[in-house]
Amino acid sequence: MTAAAKIRVRRARLEDGPAAAALWREIDDLHAALAPGYFCAGARAESEWRALLEDGTALVLVAEARPAGLAGLVVARIYDTPESPTMVPRRRGHVESLVVAAGQRRRGLGRRLMDETAAWARAAGAVELVLTIWAGNDGAEAFYARLGYRPLSRVLARSLVPPADADQAAAGGRRAARAERAHTR
Ligand SMILES: CC(C)(COP(=O)(O)OP(=O)(O)OC[C@H]1O[C@@H](n2cnc3c(N)ncnc32)[C@H](O)[C@@H]1OP(=O)(O)O)[C@@H](O)C(=O)NCCC(=O)NCCS
Repeated sequence: MTAAAKIRVRRARLEDGPAAAALWREIDDLHAALAPGYFCAGARAESEWRALLEDGTALVLVAEARPAGLAGLVVARIYDTPESPTMVPRRRGHVESLVVAAGQRRRGLGRRLMDETAAWARAAGAVELVLTIWAGNDGAEAFYARLGYRPLSRVLARSLVPPADADQAAAGGRRAARAERAHTR
């Protein structure tokens, strides 16, 4: 049996919450390292997971690998272009989050999750899938390129505060996140 054949992709359930939280932690930590001015590795509340599953517009899929258990997660939504004389009306699927557990990567789980998401979006009338990756996430960039994704736009930013202030602001955010995590353990 191939590695891909041992993977089952299914809709997420409420009881997947703790395993999903461990997966979220991996991507939250990665984003906090890549973009500390935007993200800090705080603890996600169980209510967020519940709300996500109750949100009828969201697709939440998990990948189960045997015998490892829950090893991947994808969250996506459908969006229509806002009505505007200057925009082409189009329906798209937006992939909001994708993560495969570090120990389960390069076995086809990410591809399976993206294939299922594409099938879901196509069935809902979407003509393409779009997503954002943060600068420096070279692994994800290589993965998406392999799956046929091409750059669509670039977001530029320039800091308006001196570097020391920016570092302090990021450190303050990290301290707050650590305190919250200690509190919720
Ligand atoms: C990006 C990620 C989801 C890929 O998942 P994965 O299960 O390892 O990917 P797959 O095994 O399905 O790989 C699919 C293809 O991409 C390639 N690929 C995957 N990761 C790669 C990497 N880091 N560098 C180069 N190629 C890569 C694989 O070789 C494979 O190619 P092939 O099918 O032609 O052999 C995973 O690395 C991850 O969770 N990263 C951290 C979170 C993240 O960055 N999420 C995406 C941004 S929101």
